[in-house]
Amino acid sequence: MKKLRVLTGVTPSGVPHLGNYVGAIRPAIQASLNPEVESFLFLSDYHALIKCHEPDKVHASTQAVAATWLACGLDPERTTFYRQSDVPEVMELNWILTCNTAKGLMNRAHAYKAAVQDNAEKGQEDPDHGVEMGLFCYPMLMTADILLFNADKVPVGRDQIQHLEMARDIAGRFNHRYKPLFTLPEAQVDEQVETLLGLDGRKMSKSYGNTIPLFETEKKLQKAVNKIVTNLKEPGEPKQPNESPLFDIYKAFASQEETAEFTQMLAEGLAWGEAKKMLAAKINLELADKRERFAELTAQPAIIEDILQAGAEKARSQAQPLLAQVREAVGIRPLK
Ligand code: ADP
Ligand code: TRP
Repeated sequence: MKKLRVLTGVTPSGVPHLGNYVGAIRPAIQASLNPEVESFLFLSDYHALIKCHEPDKVHASTQAVAATWLACGLDPERTTFYRQSDVPEVMELNWILTCNTAKGLMNRAHAYKAAVQDNAEKGQEDPDHGVEMGLFCYPMLMTADILLFNADKVPVGRDQIQHLEMARDIAGRFNHRYKPLFTLPEAQVDEQVETLLGLDGRKMSKSYGNTIPLFETEKKLQKAVNKIVTNLKEPGEPKQPNESPLFDIYKAFASQEETAEFTQMLAEGLAWGEAKKMLAAKINLELADKRERFAELTAQPAIIEDILQAGAEKARSQAQPLLAQVREAVGIRPLK
């Protein structure tokens, strides 16, 4: 029987944070441990160029994200673990898909629309001011990542669901126009996990500088948690889960029973300061061992590079046969 294919990527454009971990890394690694699953986990470094024009930052982040995947339990023997830019077939498919995708579909992408709206709010006359083509075409590159391996399931945070819908549209159009070569992928979203908000109450994101980094020391973790916004309610005053982003973070690291207990304690007037201590302890419990492994790996970049190279070889050997069929289907064929 064909194994279920699970694939996901994390963009190396900064320091990995709790949102990346609960939204993508943790569920993807869990899925990869299932013997019925074939998994493809990667660093989307070409995506990093969309948001980050600082070469040293892209490079340092690539190492940090790779070490994060490995520290969180990714087994390179069971998983195809690679760096997007080491698999040039992705870019080739990206172009073929670009030539078969309506511009109107990309107009609707959240990241592009947010940039346009930002311009409008700032009174900019040109709605596309500052928008580069990478940002505009971002969902297309992501689609190429997914379709190249005919992934069935893509574990992602909720913010990425729209991109999976686009990937299905693009795959469907190709299949209809040429030949049914692509699987229609589905987003896999952890029901227990909301999109985590950052320290300032906006989505926690590398792009906003509002994150709680995954592998800070215990002390720095507590410090970061202490900065999460709350309101001015005093100890003893009842509090609701939706009054601070800290609740959803707690929920992402706790069992259902523990979350129910925490809700109850807030309702009974738990002080925000105490809640923050409980939260940092909860996160620390899950991450302490991984943090140690992360430090060990970070000291050995050459080992990580070897693992990535071996992964790229595996990924390319998987990708090439499908890409050959795609080229044939669109008419890029040898002359005989
Ligand atoms: P960032 O916004 O920090 O640059 P990425 O775009 O690299 O994060 O996201 C990598 C993965 O992590 C995606 O699957 C995304 O959905 C998930 N993710 C990112 N931020 C969050 C968040 N705040 N909550 C839950 N999942 C998230
Ligand atoms: N675009 C995703 C993000 O920034 C990362 C990513 C790139 C990805 N390619 C992917 C996720 C393919 C899943 C599948 O969050």
